[in-house]
Amino acid sequence: MLPLVSQKKIWFIKKMNLLLKKIERLKNDRNAVILAHNYQLGEIQDIADFTGDSLGLSIKAAETEADVIVFCGVRFMAETAAILSPQKTVLLPDKEAGCPMADMITAEQLKDLKAKNPDALVVCYVNSSAEVKAQSDYCCTSSNAAEVVNSLPDDRRIIFVPDRHLGQFVTEKSGQDIVLWPGFCHVHVIITEDDIREAKAKLPDAIVMAHPECTEPVKKLADELLSTSQMLSFAAKSPAKQFIVATEIGIIHTLKKQNPDAEFIAASKRAICPNMKKITLEKVAWALEDMQYKITVPEQIREKAKRALDRMVAILPTG
Ligand code: 13P
Ligand code: SF4
Repeated sequence: MLPLVSQKKIWFIKKMNLLLKKIERLKNDRNAVILAHNYQLGEIQDIADFTGDSLGLSIKAAETEADVIVFCGVRFMAETAAILSPQKTVLLPDKEAGCPMADMITAEQLKDLKAKNPDALVVCYVNSSAEVKAQSDYCCTSSNAAEVVNSLPDDRRIIFVPDRHLGQFVTEKSGQDIVLWPGFCHVHVIITEDDIREAKAKLPDAIVMAHPECTEPVKKLADELLSTSQMLSFAAKSPAKQFIVATEIGIIHTLKKQNPDAEFIAASKRAICPNMKKITLEKVAWALEDMQYKITVPEQIREKAKRALDRMVAILPTG
């Protein structure tokens, strides 16, 4: 008789295998594709047909031939897929998976800001509701924010919502005078300068990769400011073998998997997005089984939001 620990391990592996087979079968039956953001749990990233940052996932959502998109991410990402592909069924496996930063500005608040700056063009970060996108001229992600702003006429004022830290990064990159909204990501602002200094004391030769959603003092200490997918391609090409990663820790799973010879440490172990972690393998299986939770956007909002998103998808990052 095997010891209880080994029995439990075997039972767990069997259960996991059954679950993975079930997801595969349901995916084929439904002609579904699974998209996962780089912050998802490792096991979710491993079963996804495509993993990526917000821009990559938006492009994939627009291109896919599948009838059903299971979006392993947060609500605004699934909404983006629904805006770009209205003929497809978009499922978010946990209906409570939201983004607190996206909720920091409402369409009404944006309308008031536009009324105060009537000649300004509005650029909204993709981390925003469909209603806010519908009120915006352009959408952007962390990977193409500077390119989007640089593509706008020099003589127009720009309003940037909702993330003031990404907005600050864009202000510095473009040299434009930008009206910022005081939104922030609670996961990225938790990373402090001391965290970076302590990590550098442990790995003095490591390259510090930080996400533009980090605070300005943290970004000043970074060697590279990159979106999540840009971090993956930078690490793959870099001759360096040690990296300090200042973003949500989920990305470390794929960084390690793709670069087994390199060392990656999280700038802060507390940088965990609880909303991204709401998606589990069980919930992916239930999503496909019960076709839940369907994310839809009313047509009059969708049409306006799509204009801003189409302009974003057309502008690829240059760096
Ligand atoms: P990217 O993956 O586009 O860099 O975005 C980070 C993020 O916070 C998404 O919620
Ligand atoms: Fe929103 Fe931040 Fe979580 Fe991204 S990491 S989904 S910006 S709370």
